[in-house]
Amino acid sequence: MLQKTALFDSLQGKLTGDHVSRSRRSLGDLSNVFLNEEERLRMNPDQHVYEVEMHDSCGEVEGGLFFGVSHVHPGKVGDEYFMTKGHFHQKRNRAEYYWGISGEGLLLLMDEARVCRVEKVFPGSLHFIAGHIAHRLVNTGSSSLVVGACWPSDAGHDYESIQKDGFSIRVMEKNGEPVFVKQ
Ligand code: F6R
Ligand code: ZN
Repeated sequence: MLQKTALFDSLQGKLTGDHVSRSRRSLGDLSNVFLNEEERLRMNPDQHVYEVEMHDSCGEVEGGLFFGVSHVHPGKVGDEYFMTKGHFHQKRNRAEYYWGISGEGLLLLMDEARVCRVEKVFPGSLHFIAGHIAHRLVNTGSSSLVVGACWPSDAGHDYESIQKDGFSIRVMEKNGEPVFVKQ
């Protein structure tokens, strides 16, 4: 029997159809994520920072997969570029793939000893995120950074350790260019 499917527009990174849900993070949801918390509190709490579209056809089961698309908008809080909250997976050994669809940015990767690496994200870039590695997307461009993702559906998200200690580097704009600032 012919089944209904979801649709993935691979140029725009738009996901629609069956089993697709959307979530959004605005400035008001991102307390203690950016360095300049005073500036964040002065900005419009309803300003959208990123959206995630997700295709969930199996639920959080061992052996399952989720497929998602993140859209990180261009913008800054003070000198710091808009970015995702970032997380380790709750089940630490669960890996993930990211790939660049449109826009330009950086993927911060941090191990449990807080050692960070950075990969450039651009249309066509492919990123393997091993288990035990925290990951965060940073939009350093002037249009939305759109990134696809596929990960084990039982991975879960651990936001708490990142909320508490952050990543060991931040990406700030200086003279129109991204620079890395150690925490
Ligand atoms: C899933 C994953 C992405 C992120 C998304 C938003 O494991 O890595 O789908 O969830 O980029 O970032 P966070 O979850 O850090 O707010
Ligand atoms: Zn993840």
